[in-house]
Amino acid sequence: MSDYPTIPLADYHAYPPDEMRSRLQSFYSDVTRRRTVRDFSDRPVPRDIIETALKAANTAPSGANLQPWHFAVVSGPETKKKIREAAEIEECEFYEHRASPEWLAALEPLGTDEDKPFLETAPYLIAVFLQKYGTLPDGRKVKHYYPTESTGIATGILITALHHAGLACLTHTPSPMKFLNEILGRPLNERPFLLLVTGYPAEDARVPDINRKELNEFVSFVET
Ligand SMILES: Cc1cc2nc3c(=O)[nH]c(=O)nc-3n(C[C@H](O)[C@H](O)[C@H](O)COP(=O)(O)O)c2cc1C
Repeated sequence: MSDYPTIPLADYHAYPPDEMRSRLQSFYSDVTRRRTVRDFSDRPVPRDIIETALKAANTAPSGANLQPWHFAVVSGPETKKKIREAAEIEECEFYEHRASPEWLAALEPLGTDEDKPFLETAPYLIAVFLQKYGTLPDGRKVKHYYPTESTGIATGILITALHHAGLACLTHTPSPMKFLNEILGRPLNERPFLLLVTGYPAEDARVPDINRKELNEFVSFVET
């Protein structure tokens, strides 16, 4: 037995199967309405709403509980402008040279291009950083385990929490994103993971008409 302290699992709730079904159905109905939005309103969002969504993200499981993420929350116009300018340089390069024909073909139905006005219009840009390793106050390095998986899970919870609050998100990945370290003053042990643009959708926002796979296309049940 470990000598480390434990506490009772006091906050656990079990539900009868019918209640499980109805809770899940309402969760599913909510998340199935989530769409990636690329046209944002500049309507302000109170900061406490973003903070609570970030606290929800920080409940994510993580390798050895090392919580290997950092979220830089940008709302200032000067910094947003710098991020837009740097992202558009990378995106121009991507669309004109770096992207393979297959990649461009996969992006075509989404109608994306190098112009990124939402990086200045949306009230918040949340730059998600993955910490490759941690640093103790005396400067020693702490190895992080599964930082990619952990940060991906935390980001998924963040997107779901923001959607649950009635906000829209765009998962943006200008490639490469190293400029985010420079603009946001983040240390070298942090790798930009993605840039989450969030706020209210523009009134006339439209989204691509895309499909999601059916359950039998992405799930297999093994019952033996
Ligand atoms: C890791 C990741 C990177 C993405 N990068 C971009 C991006 O750079 N630009 C963009 O417009 N959409 C980006 N998306 C959004 C996807 O295109 C979008 O999630 C997908 O088309 C499904 O649409 P939906 O989110 O509305 O269901 C990204 C999504 C993920 C998960």
